[in-house]
This record gives sequence, C-alpha cells and structure tokens, in this order.
Amino acid sequence: MEIIIGKNKKESIKKAVSIISKIVKKKPKSVLGLATGNTVIPLYKELVKKYKKNEINFSKVSTFNLDEYSGLSENDKKSFHYFMNKYFFNHVNISKKNIHFPNSNFKKYEKMIFASGGIDLQILGIGHNGHIGFNEPGSSFNSKVRKIKLSDDTRKFNYKFFRQSKSVPKHAFTMGIKTIMNSKKIILLAFGKEKAEAIAKTIHGKITTKVPASILRKHKNVIFIIDKKASGKLKQYHNKI
Ligand code: F6R
Repeated sequence: MEIIIGKNKKESIKKAVSIISKIVKKKPKSVLGLATGNTVIPLYKELVKKYKKNEINFSKVSTFNLDEYSGLSENDKKSFHYFMNKYFFNHVNISKKNIHFPNSNFKKYEKMIFASGGIDLQILGIGHNGHIGFNEPGSSFNSKVRKIKLSDDTRKFNYKFFRQSKSVPKHAFTMGIKTIMNSKKIILLAFGKEKAEAIAKTIHGKITTKVPASILRKHKNVIFIIDKKASGKLKQYHNKI
C-alpha cells in the first residue's frame, strides 16, 4: 500500500494523471476501471487537457465503469453514463464500442471484464461511510457485479443530483468488492476534510465490511492519492509530494 499526500487537490490530480499516462503509454490497449463523482471531475479535465496536447492516446483503451443507476439511459442527465460523456468520453478519442457500464445484463459484466484481460487500473473515489462503487457498508468482500438496493443514506446524499425528478432511483448496478480487488492496480482518490474520517478508518482501522474501502489494504498494488485535508486524521504522514 502506498499513500501519496499532495499539498492540495491540484498536485494530487497531477500525480494521478502522470501514473495513468505512463500506464496507457506502456500499454495502449489498457483496460481502465472508472468512477464518477465530484472527486474525479478534475482528473477527467486534466486527462482531456493532456489528450488535447497530444500527450495521451485513448484510441485503443477500453473502459469499464464501476456503477450505474438502474433504469436511466445514457441521455438521462442523472445517469453516470451521461456524466462520463460530459466530462470525459465526448472529449477524447475513446472508441464508443470500448466503453462499458453495468446494466440489467450485469451477470455478463464480470465476464466481459475477464474477457478483456482484466482491469489494468481501477480509479476509485470513497464515500463518507467508506463505500467504494455502490458497495455500501456490509457488502461482502466476495461480492461481484450485482444489482443493489441503494441505502436511504446514499439516496438522501444523491438527492441534490435529482432535483428535477424528485426521485432518486431505488436500485443500481455495481462492480463488487471482489471485482474491484481483481484489478491489477488501484488508485483511490480522496480530497477535502469531509473525507478525512473515511480515509483514517480505511488506513488505520480494522479491515472490516463496515468500512468497505479497508479491504484495499490487502491489495498488492494500491495507491491512495489524497490531499493534505483528507489526510488530516492520519496518524503519520507518508509520501508527501
Ligand atoms: C461513483 C462511485 C462512488 C464515489 C463516491 C465518492 O462511481 O463509485 O463510490 O466514488 O461516492 O463520491 P464523490 O467523489 O462525489 O465524493
């Protein structure tokens, strides 16, 4: 486990972009596992900038997103697919046929990831309660891609994104914790003091299904890239940049 603490969000994002670029340069057919959410917006923006400067090429890259709401189409502004198109896919040369999201055919998703050769790099954010993807506290460490019922907490938290329709979907599809752990490399990003508690529990606490991200410590190639604020509750500083 490696922990990189950037002095701010910008520096941390720079570090993540540099790691992603190296991976894609070394293996143009890289398979990337992608997340949505506020944390990753600046990451996608920087990757798009890099692409526009001809410094990264996504033409052979495949992507598998972590999660998606049930019943929302790609054109629905609340869907994760819409988010990804808006912040990333529409601005780079990723081939549409190489973009994947879990859906009602979710049993096939795990097989598709496997058939692609497996995820070379999985990008993760973290929820306040330590969730990764839509794997809420209590999710089994052996869980695979599945349909889940969203917790009241998560639905409440996501309410702000659903103002127009006033109803947050009750179900979603998500990669499981085992699916995530099968990735060859994982980068978890967390910024801001509101993530400090979840990061401290993930890194110093017991490895428990109560804090889903805590299992990442067992992964042999995981990097936590966080900013100073998210590191506020860690006992000691690790690699600073
Ligand atoms: C979304 C996902 C979630 C988020 C997490 C953090 O695809 O996998 O687990 O990473 O909820 O969300 P933000 O970044 O909005 O704080």
